[in-house]
Amino acid sequence: MRAVPDASVLPSGRAFSEEFLRLRALAIDWTRDYYDRSHLLRTGDWLLALDPRAPEPLVIAALTHDMERTVPGGPVLDKANTPWDDPAYNAAHCARSAHVVASWLTAHAASERFVQGIRTPILEHEFGGSAEGDLMQAADSISFLETNRGLVVGWVEGGECSVEKGQAKMQWMCDRVRLERARAVARAQLEAGMAEIAQRLAEA
Ligand SMILES: [Fe+2]
Repeated sequence: MRAVPDASVLPSGRAFSEEFLRLRALAIDWTRDYYDRSHLLRTGDWLLALDPRAPEPLVIAALTHDMERTVPGGPVLDKANTPWDDPAYNAAHCARSAHVVASWLTAHAASERFVQGIRTPILEHEFGGSAEGDLMQAADSISFLETNRGLVVGWVEGGECSVEKGQAKMQWMCDRVRLERARAVARAQLEAGMAEIAQRLAEA
């Protein structure tokens, strides 16, 4: 596995279905205005880095797994006072995203293979569970550690949570990884991420 995958490159030597390529292009376009778009795109990259043979619906799930946050009225986490692994918030976020993404796929004439296939990985992207859920959770976690250092700095600088709470988010995203072969990659991203956050806060 590559230490850090290239951005938005599909594995060479693997054939993908026309439907997958169509839905992938639509998904990438759908995320265009989402504030944390790079995290979604990199989750897709890391998923394929961890498993170049990952089922096509899993890749679509990776690219869209947080999109409920673009629909007003979703669950809100009090970053200062609620644990990052809060079961109520995370379950609501996962269930709402699975619903939003399934509806979006149906609206874009996706087959049942995709509409059903995104369900379990999106429902399990925070805590894992099944083999697909564990793969998705590892990709989400590593992508967060890689892409969301600036986001965490922004929470601290904006007064949404303390430095310690921001660091705890990074630590949780690493410690929660269930997929054995993803753990060293997550630790490397955690280490680099913690250092970068400390440096950016010191410079602020
Ligand atoms: Fe995510």
